[in-house]
Amino acid sequence: MSVPVMVPGLENPPTNHSRLTAWVREVAELTTPERVVWCDGSDEEWRRLTDELVASGTLVRLNDEYKPNSFWARTDPSDVARVEERTYICSVDEADAGPTNNWMAPAEMKQTMTELYRGSMRGRTMYVIPFCMGPLTAENPMYGVEITDSAYVALSMRIMTRMGSHVLDAMGDDAVYVPALHSVGAPLDEGQADTAWPCSETKYISHFPESREIWSFGSGYGGNSLLGKKCYSLRIASVMGRDEGWLAEHMLILKLTSPRDEVRYIAAAFPSACGKTNLAMVEPTIPGWKVETLGDDIAWMRFGEDGRLYAVNPEYGLFGVAPGTDWKTNPNAMRAIDKGNSLFTNVALTDDGDIWWEGMGEPPAHLTDWHGKDWTPDSEGPSSHPNSRFCTPIQQCPILADEYEDPKGVPISAILFGGRRASTIPLVTQSRDWAHGVYFGATLSSETTAAAVGKVGVVRRDPMAMLPFIGYNGADYFRHWIEMGKGANGGDSSKMPAIFYVNWFRRDDDGKFLWPGFGENSRVLKWVVERLEGRAEAVETPIGFVPTPESLDTDGLDLDAASLDAVLNVDVEEWRAEIPLVQEWFEKFGDKLPGVLWAELDALKARLGVE
Ligand code: GDP
Ligand code: PGA
Ligand code: MN
Repeated sequence: MSVPVMVPGLENPPTNHSRLTAWVREVAELTTPERVVWCDGSDEEWRRLTDELVASGTLVRLNDEYKPNSFWARTDPSDVARVEERTYICSVDEADAGPTNNWMAPAEMKQTMTELYRGSMRGRTMYVIPFCMGPLTAENPMYGVEITDSAYVALSMRIMTRMGSHVLDAMGDDAVYVPALHSVGAPLDEGQADTAWPCSETKYISHFPESREIWSFGSGYGGNSLLGKKCYSLRIASVMGRDEGWLAEHMLILKLTSPRDEVRYIAAAFPSACGKTNLAMVEPTIPGWKVETLGDDIAWMRFGEDGRLYAVNPEYGLFGVAPGTDWKTNPNAMRAIDKGNSLFTNVALTDDGDIWWEGMGEPPAHLTDWHGKDWTPDSEGPSSHPNSRFCTPIQQCPILADEYEDPKGVPISAILFGGRRASTIPLVTQSRDWAHGVYFGATLSSETTAAAVGKVGVVRRDPMAMLPFIGYNGADYFRHWIEMGKGANGGDSSKMPAIFYVNWFRRDDDGKFLWPGFGENSRVLKWVVERLEGRAEAVETPIGFVPTPESLDTDGLDLDAASLDAVLNVDVEEWRAEIPLVQEWFEKFGDKLPGVLWAELDALKARLGVE
């Protein structure tokens, strides 16, 4: 096995980075692709790969009139979402993975996966994708190199990351980078026809936090295969942040300008499919307020020289949930995708070559659904998979903030935590202080969504919306958050962002959302800013500061007083019922759980009159 046949593309690599070329050779020898291609990120390369995938049936070119230079893809029906059950943190010590992650010893995982990778790229092209998360102008550019046997992944990486020759050149001969290996795990024998969406029943999404490596096998779905995103920028980066004194978080970043021209930057952590992309691009319904986008999924936050917490979006594209996205709910996303240059996965195709999904209003009389079957409004089931996605360059977002390319980032004034809860959690609550805010985050709960394989609609704890993304022990992660608020790592404890908890998803007895959401969420942003400035009223409740009905700007809002009361209500009985659940959640972490969080729970119990 050690003397490979000549693999075209392996000789004369376009770099003198010897560790990188050695790794590429080693992977090629193991996986035995037909050829190796170093991706340069050019338009020519995009054309060549999209042409190839159109010819092979993986992509369908959309009508240029509606979506120029854009493509429709359908996955295998088994490969539609992140696979949390198959996601592993392979730290040397099992305790470092903590109680919330799957764990396997690194040597054992590498042995298992090496056998899976052996020959796994047979008959395929192996793409080498040099990329950088965050601006290349950063003091320490955060490089990665993904090796993949999927052209769909190579194309998606071009949208989602800064990648190509300019990155490889910037890496020079010895830059540190995160090696990220991906194979769909579907080798092709001589003469064997390919399928439109090759993947494997066996899947592993593995992370090696000590050596900062990622090995992914068997899935082509974005969250499992675009390794710069959740794998690097959250799981591996959270470990880097722990070691180096910063935070890698599952947060959108937005810029809010008031009618008085005051600018504030806000970050918000919601679990997957709970509204980050929508809030990041929100079009305020209140006059004079302006929102601009910095990021819709991931924030890297470190302290600036002034002791404030600054956030950078490491990504280059938007990988958004399609269903529900419409001119009414998220017009800026619609404007972004209308510019084209996008990949659409598992949505429906119209007869004239445009895309369609649930939430876009009246459906056309006929569609091709995400299974490739005829679909009419009488068909059973939705035309698009609930986790279908658009993948679009972020530069096409019409309200992208100028600061987006600034490697220094933007100073964050407020952090919002939120999730999907049909009951209990009011529209917005402000924490008393940083520790109480960390408690908000640590106890965040949300109903599961289609973004991950598994049952939908089950309430689970999802700390800081990071449950599937914390690359180390959750208790150590909470401790890191608490330390960040105490002046550690160059921070100024008096300048920490204020922390809020929001819930757009509270329902009435008929199961209808109480709050209209989307553009109307700007009213909550306004209240948040006014709280920072000491200009908005609040009621002090056992759980924190909640708006008085008058303090929330409801001008022109179509919501009756009873619904407003219901959406702001703090029901002490419901909150008492949460206590044993939080208790049980905290106990999972054993002695490692910071005492501050137990103290917060005790204080809450006292305020609720719970023994
Ligand atoms: P992300 O995965 O966290 O970025 O979530 P998205 O912003 O893509 O939203 C996920 C789903 O929630 C989409 O179907 C949205 O239409 C829907 N959604 C987003 N914001 C709201 C809101 O304020 N209210 C309601 N009811 N739904 C929302
Ligand atoms: P999101 O991320 O749903 O948080 O946007 C993508 C994913 O979960 O795969
Ligand atoms: Mn999103």
